[in-house]
Amino acid sequence: MITLGEGDTPLVRSRAIEKELGVGRLYFKLEGCNPTGSFKDRGMVVAVAKALESGAEAIMCASTGNTSASASAFGARFGLETYVLAPKGRIAKGKLSQALVHGAKLVSIDGSFDQILRIAQTLTERYEVAFVNSLNPHRIEGQKTAAFEIVDDLGSAPDYLLVPVGNAGNITAYWKGFKEYADLGKATTKPRMMGFQAAGAAPIVEGKPVEDPQTVASAIRIGNPASWNGALTAERESGGAIDLVTDDEILSAYRAIAEKEGVFGEPASAASVAGLYKMARNGKELRDASVVCVITGTGLKDQEVALQSRGTFLEAPPTASGVEAVLGLGRVRSAT
Ligand code: F0G
Repeated sequence: MITLGEGDTPLVRSRAIEKELGVGRLYFKLEGCNPTGSFKDRGMVVAVAKALESGAEAIMCASTGNTSASASAFGARFGLETYVLAPKGRIAKGKLSQALVHGAKLVSIDGSFDQILRIAQTLTERYEVAFVNSLNPHRIEGQKTAAFEIVDDLGSAPDYLLVPVGNAGNITAYWKGFKEYADLGKATTKPRMMGFQAAGAAPIVEGKPVEDPQTVASAIRIGNPASWNGALTAERESGGAIDLVTDDEILSAYRAIAEKEGVFGEPASAASVAGLYKMARNGKELRDASVVCVITGTGLKDQEVALQSRGTFLEAPPTASGVEAVLGLGRVRSAT
């Protein structure tokens, strides 16, 4: 049993977007509140526990950033050498910083995530190094706990669960969690699973791998998801859908949750909310529905996108009159 304090993340009711879109009840699952700022910690803690149990001294992952941040933190805490393979120039700086400060050996590779994932698989088969990507089934076992928490918090399963899809481990894990909870009698229903890929990286929607995936949501810039079948199973068994959202839709949802809800998710996370906007726009009847959008990682990880999308601020000289001149502060305080 090891921990860094992962899990038990807040499920927060929407104040604005729920009304705007006419959704019965809308909630955000704030996975950015995990210790390294993304849902990856839920699975990593189990994968690392199992690696320690088996006597491993090193772990390796390929990552678009969050898996590497999580692996590096748990690796540091439990004395494991951590090898991270990262697609060159395609990782948000916050995530890169996390791997580096925790002392991982980070190799920047001029290739796609899909290529470097294969390299990580090859090397961990050859060497005594534990593979901690989500193809490792222990990762899924940990990640499914988010589904348990949602049912516990709501008292029942939601009608819809919306989640961004990259390598498709997370949608696979959520579906496993909801099914297991229903089988245990802890829920009488299961949600429709709605997975959203970025339009430039939507292999599952297009039905074929994408050679050179492109999207502002670097976490889900993946052209050939390892858990492709898991995503299709979740879609089919739950009566859900895997769809795509454009980068413009992702950035618009990213701003909407930040500006209207006080929720700072990273761009990939906003794909779930962009998906909800798309469902509403397409006339999906949600008036009586309970909906959970998973905000998979904190927006602090990707400050490049934050500053590009909201780069304006005011400037003033260091005087009260200078600051009041640019602010427009409204009503003057009445004398008491
Ligand atoms: N959201 C965030 C913030 C992610 O980092 C990822 C995946 C996903 C969604 C998609 O989850 O891959 O299970 O479908 N990030 C991986 C990584 C690929 O390397 O950190 P998925």
